[in-house]
Amino acid sequence: MSTTNRWGPYTSMRAMQEHGPLVIDHAEGVYVFDEDGRRYLDAHAALWLVNVGYGRREIIEAIARQAEKLSWFSSFGGFANRPSIELAERLISLLKSDGMASVFLSNDGSEAMETALKISRQYWKMRGMAAKTKLIGRQHAYHGVTAGALSVAGITANRRLFEPLVGDVRHAPAPYRNHCSYHPGSAVCTYACVHEVERMIQFEDPGTVAAFVAEPIQAAGGVIIPPPDYLAQIREICSRYDVLLITDEVVTGFGRLGEWTGARHYGVQPDIMTFAKGITSGYQPLGATAVSQHILDAYIQASTGEPELRHGNTYSGHPVAAAAALANIAIIERENLLDRARGAGDHLAQLLHQIAQSLPDQVADAGSEGLLGRVELQEDGQQPPGALGNLVAAKMREAGVIVRPAGDVITLSPPLIITDGQLDTVIETLHDVLLEVMPV
Ligand SMILES: Cc1ncc(COP(=O)(O)O)c(C=O)c1O
Repeated sequence: MSTTNRWGPYTSMRAMQEHGPLVIDHAEGVYVFDEDGRRYLDAHAALWLVNVGYGRREIIEAIARQAEKLSWFSSFGGFANRPSIELAERLISLLKSDGMASVFLSNDGSEAMETALKISRQYWKMRGMAAKTKLIGRQHAYHGVTAGALSVAGITANRRLFEPLVGDVRHAPAPYRNHCSYHPGSAVCTYACVHEVERMIQFEDPGTVAAFVAEPIQAAGGVIIPPPDYLAQIREICSRYDVLLITDEVVTGFGRLGEWTGARHYGVQPDIMTFAKGITSGYQPLGATAVSQHILDAYIQASTGEPELRHGNTYSGHPVAAAAALANIAIIERENLLDRARGAGDHLAQLLHQIAQSLPDQVADAGSEGLLGRVELQEDGQQPPGALGNLVAAKMREAGVIVRPAGDVITLSPPLIITDGQLDTVIETLHDVLLEVMPV
């Protein structure tokens, strides 16, 4: 059997030729099983997203019921289907306190971001400020793979082979406390990265800046947890200079931080929010871009009766994906998984504190917010960046626990249903692997 017919996403095809993939066959709760029946505790919810855990009958049955009734029909030009209407209502009631008024459905996080960027550029044109086109993203950000989303993203290795990217995009520094470019090696924080955002907007001329884009916590960049008031300060700057604030909630939405959104966790109302991943817990692909009332109003007021936003994916508002999202949201509510994420998050924070204390030669930094955690490995000065992270993740997998390296940061993002005992297993396994791989 050839292992290269299938070109895997973010996958080394040379490694595939040598070792082949690890084929996951089935899953239940927080566990996934390979084709040989080996069990793995999935401490990453696959890719930050199986929030309600695997094997939920209620979602599977909702998908089957909807596929039988109406597997798909176009939502272009005035058509709709009932599940997508119900989902939009449900989302807007959940996102009311985030200030959201309408939601555009797509297929994934990249499309949700692409939609947000287009909505924000067009918004200023509709308001008679056509020069406001520039977008500001941040270093280390991940917003997806499509041209616009990749352009505002800030992970250099993902970008450089595809350059030149979309124009008129700038990148602000990330609020990366322990890799601060302003105060390297020091615990001092003067909010220099926040001031830089303001300076950037002033330098570019606020009359040319459309939007600032931020994940409340930068996940793929290495779970970069900002100071608690960072996002509020960014909000204030955006409001002062009439720049739209887009929060990318693809990872932080749907309970990961113990709230429906990361912006709410930080007490901020953005202008636009993007979602995917946890919105269905992965049972179906779905993206969503929510906008606040003033944006919706601008589009409706400028309308000539033609489609105001000339944008849409064939599968926008897919009924089966919407049915999956509704069932997923019902589980999060009924089982109080936001509370659960907070409770389990407290336990994770304690465990990370302990491992940082007990293994100072191996752990440079460890911390978490809700159920999003990071363990940054000490540099050993011998291996290239990221090699240690890959080795630790591989050894963890051999020991039956799935984590994901972001360079030399081991990132954790388990299903919200994980128990304290299962979290203990994850960190105990990590402890043993670190001692094996990084002996003093
Ligand atoms: C914060 C964030 N935004 C956007 C995306 C892109 O989502 P997708 O891979 O569904 O296109 C991701 C994917 O990991 C993400 O982490």
